[in-house]
Amino acid sequence: MLVDSFGRVATDLRVSLTDRCNLRCAYCMPPEGLDWLPKPELLTADEICRLVAIGVERLGVTEVRYTGGEPLLRRELTEIVTRTTALRPRPHVSITSNGIGLARLAAPLAAAGLDRVNVSLDTLDRETFVRLAHRDRLPDVLAGLSAAVAAGLRPVKVNIVLMRGVNEHEAAALLRYCLERGYEARFIEQMPLDAQHGWRRENMVTADEILEALGREFTLTPDDPAERGSAPAETFLVDGGPARVGVIGSVTRPFCGACDRVRLTADGQIRNCLFATEESDLRAALRSGATDDELATRWLAAVRTKRAGHGIDDPTFLQPSRPMSAIGG
Ligand code: GTP
Ligand code: 5AD
Ligand code: SF4
Repeated sequence: MLVDSFGRVATDLRVSLTDRCNLRCAYCMPPEGLDWLPKPELLTADEICRLVAIGVERLGVTEVRYTGGEPLLRRELTEIVTRTTALRPRPHVSITSNGIGLARLAAPLAAAGLDRVNVSLDTLDRETFVRLAHRDRLPDVLAGLSAAVAAGLRPVKVNIVLMRGVNEHEAAALLRYCLERGYEARFIEQMPLDAQHGWRRENMVTADEILEALGREFTLTPDDPAERGSAPAETFLVDGGPARVGVIGSVTRPFCGACDRVRLTADGQIRNCLFATEESDLRAALRSGATDDELATRWLAAVRTKRAGHGIDDPTFLQPSRPMSAIGG
């Protein structure tokens, strides 16, 4: 088991399949994009599947989340999902995506065994979308969401990052849109993970502000906290339920104490936290002929040193050198 020095057990493996993306969300990367990882540095599909198998078969991983950048840009995604769901004990397999391409891929992914999907949707207004993500792709995202439901991927969760002066006023409209279509909306506090290092705490729309805005139009009742487990979202019943809304207060209401996550970057580094300052190079070990036992030992050591929390409020806090798109969402 992947246990750290505080006794937390990492059972949720998040694998970034590529650092590339076809959007340029302002809280993530600049309009011109980033210096993408050169192809030879990316893990191959075989290397990914081998490491995931070690995680599941030897290290107690029960959930595998494929992320990016944008995971749908990785051509072998369906094959990787098929191979992951064939592992025993079968892990729960999901993706976090921007939704572009899901209209075409939702059905094949469901057939490959994908259990569910989280999709980012920060606005319902086409012009705001272009302003925020620098690409005119809102219709593709909405089509992707519908296709996910039609393919039986449930629940479909919608990730919403509110930004002051951009989409803050859309909170209630976004929740209504999700309620009407059976998507589970989650409002997320923006974290200091953008490549441009432009995050300012005072500009962040906080969980308290999100709840206040939603509370003006809906009655929110806290859900049973026992149901939450290690999930990042605090959930609320909307207007008496059964529909729910989530709030992910990563900054002001950190869930680090219950964190069960470990990350594998697209270039094969284990990160024990989104905000880790160190990584463990499984790719180098793997490419120099390490056995599964040796890889598992290295992985265990990497998790053991996980910090107690993200420390965003510490005066000495340093934003990670890799942005969210290169770490995996
Ligand atoms: P579930 O699907 O409900 O399990 O949530 P999830 O967190 O796995 O979903 P997703 O990958 O869609 O991420 C949603 C948001 O959760 C991200 O935007 C982050 O704000 C936050 N998040 C995800 N992983 C971490 C983490 O390890 N630490 C912190 N602090 N926040 C995280
Ligand atoms: N803060 C919070 N959430 C972020 N995401 C991307 N960058 C940030 C950030 N700086 C979210 C996206 C996506 C998920 C992978 O992470 O909205 O849904
Ligand atoms: Fe792409 Fe996700 Fe970053 Fe937006 S948040 S630019 S969708 S990787």
